Amino acid sequence: MQQAAARVLRGARTPQVLSPPVRTPQVLSPPVRTLPVRARSAPAGSAPLGLLYERHGEPAAVVQLKDLEVPKLGDCDVHVKMLAAPINPADINMIQGTYPLLSPLPAVGGNEGVGEVLEAGRRVTALKPGDWVIPADAGLGTWRTQGVFPEKMLLKVPSDISVLCAATLSVNPCTAFRVLADFESLVPGDSVIQNAANSGVGQAVIQIARASGIKTINVVRDRPDLPKLVERLMALGADHVITEEMLRKPEMKDIFKSIPRPRLALNCVGGKSTTEMLRHLQPKGTMVTYGGMAKQPVMVPVSAFIFRDVRLRGFWMTQWRKDHVQDQESVAAMMDSLCQLIRRGQLTAPACTEVPLQDYRAALEASMKPFVSSKQILLL
Ligand SMILES: NC(=O)c1ccc[n+]([C@@H]2O[C@H](COP(=O)([O-])OP(=O)(O)OC[C@H]3O[C@@H](n4cnc5c(N)ncnc54)[C@H](OP(=O)(O)O)[C@@H]3O)[C@@H](O)[C@H]2O)c1
Repeated sequence: MQQAAARVLRGARTPQVLSPPVRTPQVLSPPVRTLPVRARSAPAGSAPLGLLYERHGEPAAVVQLKDLEVPKLGDCDVHVKMLAAPINPADINMIQGTYPLLSPLPAVGGNEGVGEVLEAGRRVTALKPGDWVIPADAGLGTWRTQGVFPEKMLLKVPSDISVLCAATLSVNPCTAFRVLADFESLVPGDSVIQNAANSGVGQAVIQIARASGIKTINVVRDRPDLPKLVERLMALGADHVITEEMLRKPEMKDIFKSIPRPRLALNCVGGKSTTEMLRHLQPKGTMVTYGGMAKQPVMVPVSAFIFRDVRLRGFWMTQWRKDHVQDQESVAAMMDSLCQLIRRGQLTAPACTEVPLQDYRAALEASMKPFVSSKQILLL
């Protein structure tokens, strides 16, 4: 059993010490030599198009579909035809100008997605036409039909997985994999508790944990169609799905008759949700914060520190990638484990709404609505 968990979470390392939090936004160096030419209302022919913003603001107001100029291919560059790209919360925050990492303006939106290599420069070593690629890091600007990118900004992925799985692989499943692997040495039979369990990260946590023999207690916000959501998360492999209100109820004790209290809590929300979740963590257990959807600080009762010695940690995939630039073995091991899970049907793409590029405004608006439970994916 222990070996099974180790196999799935292989590539795990001892906990990473993160650099101090970024206070002022880091501005990324321009990833591609691509400039907007003029605004468009609808695509025509095969002219390269992209979703650009020239200033920060509300996405539906500042993002525009524009023609893009694709520059000449350099020796170390790769010409990519993008296939699909999701709209993630971090993409929205980057456009709003509130994310700790900002692209220089004008910028093409999107940090995640999958594309197919059309042409590779003379000194490109690892990629050839027909290969599928995903961003190696944040800031690529994936909401475009085509782009020319330096080879080092891309990672090859197998093309025998679905487009949706590949398009949503580089951020959420990687985050889920790392938070499960890097903070507590979990063994089969252990349990994990997480909030925003229906998020992209949450769905990946449920599936990776299931494949590793780890039980999950999944907290979601109450909603009119709650039974449908519970059914969906249970079908993914969730052991328990509860609402935030349930966290305070005495019936929570019943859950711990059949599974141990969690050694790991995954916090995507902040505020009250976190305080309640923390009550159920084992003494000396760890809570990892990776998201702040409620935009409220984490509140921890002093008793949790004094009498239960809980540990609070943070995780940012972007920082992990920076810390592992020289350790491509760990990156490859993680990608390999995730792709194997996908091939075995143990890790699926999050629930998605596929949207043609022209309908980007509706997709941006939908991605900011509560209780949608479906990720907007732009088809490029
Ligand atoms: N640290 C990292 O490296 C890293 C990596 C990936 C993602 N993230 C972060 O993780 C979070 C989730 O990303 P994702 O792509 O998985 O998101 P997603 O699929 O778009 O899902 C968003 C989730 O947030 C919940 N939510 C939204 N507003 C909320 C609120 N006010 N209170 C409680 N829950 C709320 C939604 O629940 P409802 O259905 O109830 O609306 C949904 O579960 C984001 O904050 C993102 O930036 C961080």
